[in-house]
Amino acid sequence: MKQRSRNLILCGFMGAGKTTLGRQLAANFRLRFFDLDEEIERREKTKIQAIFHRFGEGYFRELEHRYCKELSECENVVVAVGGGTFGNEANVLLFAKAFDIIFLDVDFETCYFRINGDTNRPLVMSHTKEQLKELFERRRKVYLKVSNIVL
Ligand code: S3P
Repeated sequence: MKQRSRNLILCGFMGAGKTTLGRQLAANFRLRFFDLDEEIERREKTKIQAIFHRFGEGYFRELEHRYCKELSECENVVVAVGGGTFGNEANVLLFAKAFDIIFLDVDFETCYFRINGDTNRPLVMSHTKEQLKELFERRRKVYLKVSNIVL
């Protein structure tokens, strides 16, 4: 009999620890791990920061959607998505059926401490702390809505 596949998604704000925990979960459960941003960088042979700079955020979101589609077809995987991935409902729908969605509910100050000054995160460079806090509050509602496990 074919075993039911186990698929996990980690979502949360920048700096929540999605990639770190995702790798650990994948190792624990013997699943394959994918980090959406790393996948985009590897396949596009361009850094996220350069994609934003050269083509704009809209183009990055298109790429994000394209790679979400591919990853959503994988089985027995753990996927860490970007902080803004689930801002696009179409991405949530791709994963909703076959994945458990885990939200890493880390407080803003902790996230900010980890991401402040990170030149590889274009939104951190282009937003003030107050703007990031607003984004955090808005997104937290989305993460809570789309997830079925909160850590
Ligand atoms: C983004 C988060 C980043 C990356 C891109 C945009 C966002 O991923 O996808 O810089 O919109 O919050 P991390 O959450 O892994 O930093």
